[in-house]
Amino acid sequence: MFNICELYDYVYKEFKIKLSAYKENQMHRRIEFFISKTNARTIKEFIASCEKDPILKNQFLDLITINVTEFFRNKDLFFQLTDIIQNDLPKKDVYSIWNSACSNGSEPYSVAMLFEEMNLNYKILATDIDNKILDYAKRGCYTEDEIIDIPIPYLSKYFDNYNSKYTIKNFIANKIIFKRHDLILDDFPSTFDLILCRNVVIYFKKEEKMKIYNKFYNSLKPKGIIFIGATENIYDYQQIGFTKLGTFFYQKVVK
Ligand SMILES: C[S@@+](CC[C@H](N)C(=O)[O-])C[C@H]1O[C@@H](n2cnc3c(N)ncnc32)[C@H](O)[C@@H]1O
Repeated sequence: MFNICELYDYVYKEFKIKLSAYKENQMHRRIEFFISKTNARTIKEFIASCEKDPILKNQFLDLITINVTEFFRNKDLFFQLTDIIQNDLPKKDVYSIWNSACSNGSEPYSVAMLFEEMNLNYKILATDIDNKILDYAKRGCYTEDEIIDIPIPYLSKYFDNYNSKYTIKNFIANKIIFKRHDLILDDFPSTFDLILCRNVVIYFKKEEKMKIYNKFYNSLKPKGIIFIGATENIYDYQQIGFTKLGTFFYQKVVK
C-alpha cells in the first residue's frame, strides 16, 4: 500500500494539478494500481522513476487527467442540443461558447459542426487542464478510429482526408481558441451563451462541484445554457439559479 497523499506536492509542482480536489477513493485506487505495475516500492521511488523516464511521467499524467472522449459523445444529446439552441437560446449574431474540459478536441469540433449545420455563427473557447491533449486538439488531426462517430456527410464537408488521417478544415479551426484552464484553480471566463462541461466534475469532490456549477452560472449570459455529461446531475440547480430544460441541460434564470 502506498500513501498517495505523498504524491500531491509532486503532482502540483509538475502538472499544476490539485489532486486533493478529486474524489479520493477513485483517484487513489487508480494511482495505486498504476504504481503497482512499475518497479517502485515507495512513493519516493515512483517519483524518481518519473523523473528518469518522461514516458512514464506522461502516462501518469494521462492516468490522472482521464482524457477519454469521442466525437458526438451520446449522439442523441447532441440532437437535443440542436433543438434547445433553436428553441430556447435567445437569438444572437454570434453565439459565444465555452467548452471546458475539451480533451482532444472531439467535443468542441462536434459542437462547431452542429452550429455549421444550423447555419449559425459562433466562436468557441475550448479549455482543458492538460497541455499535451490541448496540443493534440489544436492539430485537429484524427485517425480513422477516432472519426468513427462522425456522420459520413460531415467528413467531406468539415475534414481534409489525407493518408487515412482526417484534419479539421481551417474555416472551423479558425473559430476555436484552445487554452489551458483548470476548473479547480483558475478564475472562470465570461460571458457565454452556451457552456459544455461533460464527464469531468464526476471526478471532483462534492464541495468542488458546487463551487464549479455556481461559477458556471456566473459565466453564462441571462438565459444561457449549460450542457453536462450523461451520467451527471446538478442536484441543487434551483438554488444556484438554473431551470431544467432536459435531463442534461440547464438554463440560467435571471434572478
Ligand atoms: C473524460 S474527459 C471528458 C472530455 C469531454 N468533455 C467528453 O465528455 O468527451 C475529462 C477531461 O477533463 C480534463 N480535466 C481533468 N481535470 C480537470 C480540471 N481540474 N480542469 C479542467 N479540465 C480537467 C482532462 O484533462 C480530460 O481531458
